[in-house]
Amino acid sequence: MQLDALWKEVRTEVDSFLDGFLPPAECRPSILNRAMRYAVFPGGKRVRPLLVYLGYELERGEYPFGNEQVIRTASAIELIHTFTLVHDDLPALDNDACRRGKPAVHKEFGEDVAILAGDALFAYAVALLSDVDGKVRKIIIDSLKGVIEGQILDLREEIRTAEEVLLVHRYKTGELMKASLLSGYLIANGKEVDVVEEVAYSFGKIFQITDDIMDAAEGKVERASIIRFMSIDEAGELVRNELSKALDLIDGAFGGRGKLLKELFELVAQRVK
Ligand code: IPE
Ligand code: IPE
Ligand code: MG
Ligand code: MG
Repeated sequence: MQLDALWKEVRTEVDSFLDGFLPPAECRPSILNRAMRYAVFPGGKRVRPLLVYLGYELERGEYPFGNEQVIRTASAIELIHTFTLVHDDLPALDNDACRRGKPAVHKEFGEDVAILAGDALFAYAVALLSDVDGKVRKIIIDSLKGVIEGQILDLREEIRTAEEVLLVHRYKTGELMKASLLSGYLIANGKEVDVVEEVAYSFGKIFQITDDIMDAAEGKVERASIIRFMSIDEAGELVRNELSKALDLIDGAFGGRGKLLKELFELVAQRVK
């Protein structure tokens, strides 16, 4: 199977599940339901759901299409991710007017509705998680605590070194990436938890550094951007080093498995080539 075909299939499974799971737009309170759907559809890249499927493959050597546990888990993670984005864009946080190629939820529906739609997305995610394995549920909820800590570090803490930037990245981005890959792997009954965690953190690191490099190329350097502490070339070098470490780790621990996971790593790293 090719990575783009897998990605498309994951999107189809997760999106059609979420479409059936979220309340219809016309149901009362309609403005809340419309705002939730507006945030979720057509949505972003669905990288985290993809990681859930890729985590499963690391143990089983096949993709879990149609697996109810996997679909619910991947969908819950995407709802959580979307809720953090809705809140991240609010005037009190990043004050961003655009998200996923259209006006941010608070621009379209007002701040009050955006706050509550974020809360509701989280509530729907928790409802989904109540039916998944307890170990998986705990990992996802713990990771969300990490994401929120990362957000507060990003907003309020003085960031003085590249190492501190990487720490913020690890919380803000790496935690939910880790929960995603690890959830799929645990649903498949995998035992190499430490390696999977390391691989997933590594993915988060490459994802966020390349994000910072792409932003910097457009003249946008945020408080917690690695580009405040090194040149774009140096950051590119960091990506290449991290990539080769991660690929070796996957080869060493999972042998012939993880082919498309490695391709995803390469694709993300190539965003800045
Ligand atoms: C954006 O995440 C926020 C970060 C943690 C960098 P994504 O780049 O995965 O956003 P979507 O889901 O594709 O919109
Ligand atoms: C968003 O991070 C991360 C979370 C919502 C947890 P950023 O603020 O860096 O990402 P963008 O640039 O808004 O997508
Ligand atoms: Mg932010
Ligand atoms: Mg932001």
